[in-house]
Amino acid sequence: MLLLENITTLVTVAAPADPPSNSAIPIPHRAGSAMGELGVIRNGAIAVEGERIAWVGPTESANFPDAERIDCSGKTVLPGFVDSHTHIVFAGNRANEFAMRLRGATYQEIAEAGGGILSSMRSVRGSTVASLVAESLPRIRNAFRHGTTTLEAKSGYGLDTENELKLLHAIQQAAAQVPATIIPTFLGAHAIPPEHKASRQEYVRSIAEEMIPVVAEQGLAEFCDVFSDTGYFTVEESEQIYKAAAKHGMKLKVHADELSSFGGAEMAARVSAVSADHLLMISDAGIAQMREAGVVATLLPGTAFYLGLPFAPARKMIDEGMAVALATDCNPGSNMSENMQMTLALACMGMKMTVEEAITAATLNGAAAVRRSDQIGSIEVGKSADVAIFNVPDYPDIVYHYGVNQVEMVMKLGRVHRV
Ligand code: NIG
Ligand code: FE
Repeated sequence: MLLLENITTLVTVAAPADPPSNSAIPIPHRAGSAMGELGVIRNGAIAVEGERIAWVGPTESANFPDAERIDCSGKTVLPGFVDSHTHIVFAGNRANEFAMRLRGATYQEIAEAGGGILSSMRSVRGSTVASLVAESLPRIRNAFRHGTTTLEAKSGYGLDTENELKLLHAIQQAAAQVPATIIPTFLGAHAIPPEHKASRQEYVRSIAEEMIPVVAEQGLAEFCDVFSDTGYFTVEESEQIYKAAAKHGMKLKVHADELSSFGGAEMAARVSAVSADHLLMISDAGIAQMREAGVVATLLPGTAFYLGLPFAPARKMIDEGMAVALATDCNPGSNMSENMQMTLALACMGMKMTVEEAITAATLNGAAAVRRSDQIGSIEVGKSADVAIFNVPDYPDIVYHYGVNQVEMVMKLGRVHRV
């Protein structure tokens, strides 16, 4: 038994016992105004038995005389962040494109000139699984050091069967070497590869009929995602892919309404996706339909910041009762950052979310966005002992004093890592 005690501010983000009855999301989460409730315990304590949380309460009520103790006075403890949208496993680096954007080129212009996702595709096709793992591990460790205990990671830079499988194997092997939990997503539909420029329907067919069956059979991905946007996959193509994925038992995610108002949110509702992500250009109908269908709205303010685009309308979404999650989108083109603390700061300063809403979005609702909020995302008895310990006395300080790493220790499945 391990006891974290004298925690100056313990933020549990304890979920309502059952999902709110007026919400269509079938797993614990907080939607709308409930996102502002954090379940704070002052001078709190957490008892951990093995990999699980055994007890949570005020330090004065903790009665575990034989426990090993960690004094957390002066600290704030949060559930470990759940970064539910990343492209963190890739090869190479696109700093040259970043420099081009600073000189005025847009993300789309760079993509149309053969850069962007296709540039990372060339690097991945020239890599081995081992080199992909070696390049990605430092980034995954960086995420962990900044308080992320679970992260989702997408393929999508291989763009043919062999190289998509290579990326998914790299994700699987990297996951075995880090304390963080990694949830794999298949994103073969990230871009049309050059060899299919004149035969896009053939590429869509190969995703639906060749890649998805193999990925599902080998258990290499839990989710299937599609970049549904102008210049990428149409709504019709996306639905064809989702149909195949659902048939093979995969859960669905959508890159929706990032670069244009494309009907991505409406489609996410139609196909019963677990989450729709980005949503910078979401329509009013998209908000209503996602809420009714129980789709988590995952916002990635780092990407809007990095690309100089207008932020997603988070305020409107929360005020209209949606469940909003926050994630980094960590990738080599549109947001090269693993830092969830920075994501919180951007959510508050760029999207006018409150600190309470941002914390809920980065923990419990992030867990809902990967369908794991029955196991992770809040500090409650029976859940995984995944917590981040910050060297600040109160939770608003994490955003107030931004741009530096405030995490001092991370506990993953009951094991303490000093970072
Ligand atoms: O989420 N939108 C599509 N994919 C990524 C960008 C990937 C890249 O540029 O490498 C994103 O923004
Ligand atoms: Fe993305």
